[in-house]
Amino acid sequence: MLPKGCPTATKKPNLVKVLITGGAGFIGSHIAHHFLQAGQEVVVLDSLRSGRCNVDQSILTRGSVTDYELVEHLAAGARTIFHLAALVSVPESLEKPHECVDINVQGTLNVLRAARRHGVGKVVLSSSAAIYGDDPELPKHENMRPAPKSPYAVTKLDGEYYLAMAAAEWGVATVSLRYFNVYGPRQDPASQYAAAVPIFVQRAREGLPITIFGDGEQTRDFIYVRDVVAANLLAAESPAMTGVYNVARGESLTILELARNIRDLLGSCSPIVHGPERPGDIRHSLADISRLLATGFRPTVSLDEGLRETLAQ
Ligand SMILES: NC(=O)c1ccc[n+]([C@@H]2O[C@H](COP(=O)([O-])OP(=O)(O)OC[C@H]3O[C@@H](n4cnc5c(N)ncnc54)[C@H](O)[C@@H]3O)[C@@H](O)[C@H]2O)c1
Repeated sequence: MLPKGCPTATKKPNLVKVLITGGAGFIGSHIAHHFLQAGQEVVVLDSLRSGRCNVDQSILTRGSVTDYELVEHLAAGARTIFHLAALVSVPESLEKPHECVDINVQGTLNVLRAARRHGVGKVVLSSSAAIYGDDPELPKHENMRPAPKSPYAVTKLDGEYYLAMAAAEWGVATVSLRYFNVYGPRQDPASQYAAAVPIFVQRAREGLPITIFGDGEQTRDFIYVRDVVAANLLAAESPAMTGVYNVARGESLTILELARNIRDLLGSCSPIVHGPERPGDIRHSLADISRLLATGFRPTVSLDEGLRETLAQ
């Protein structure tokens, strides 16, 4: 169903240049702002399931990617669909596997069907390194056998397979970007399932204890959101980019080091304390980014620079 008062409902479909599902969220809003600053037309489809809206209401259509009629309506005239809408949390997906499949798999299929119907130039899926699971092989490269441990990871892998299917069978140009750990301004610290960086920043700012789940020796490959936006732009514009690409810096950091870095940058006295390990959590994560580098892409923001920019917001 099309929502009443939907701001895009009266627009001519051929004026819609870029559709961003989940575009009111953290990463999607950075993609949206890039195109708005470049003077291009942007339509965001977001259910605001996350409870936050990081874009202006004028570009927002509030609705769900599970609503095919709506997705098809918004896809008309789109040059690119950046598909980010998802149930994004591993622990939440373990609690609500059916909802996770509904949003992440049915939603992705809706985007692909709509792209086929309207001859959209490219679909770029925000996928996840969660697909690699706990395979001890490091660094993770795209040809490894997937080992998803959660409904979230399984549905992201499903999405990648559906994108490959749509490219092969329907002639829809697609590309899947497997993000590792993305951080930057506008990342929500308040959610029950929030990521480490915004929570650590908030706790350190308030001088409160920073809780690390487990011993803190687990590693992650952090990439700043500006670099992730750049990877999306390249993926959208480069006909040669198809299939799956890791998106990361190719450098790992322990969670304990991350907490100490944030604390030091803020000059905070927050103590670091340890809680129980979280179910579904992966021990080590480090990307092989040679496939991405072969496209000419280079991550440009160091951890120090990215954290400073994040803290400046
Ligand atoms: N942040 C990371 O480190 C990271 C890592 C790997 C993959 N990803 C993927 O990147 C994408 C964006 O993640 P993010 O960190 O910006 O999360 P986010 O929660 O800020 O953004 C996701 C957005 O999707 C929206 N949404 C949820 N269900 C929807 C539905 N049914 N219809 C329409 N919109 C819906 C939410 O309201 C939210 O605004 C997600 O697909 C996520 O799985 C993120």
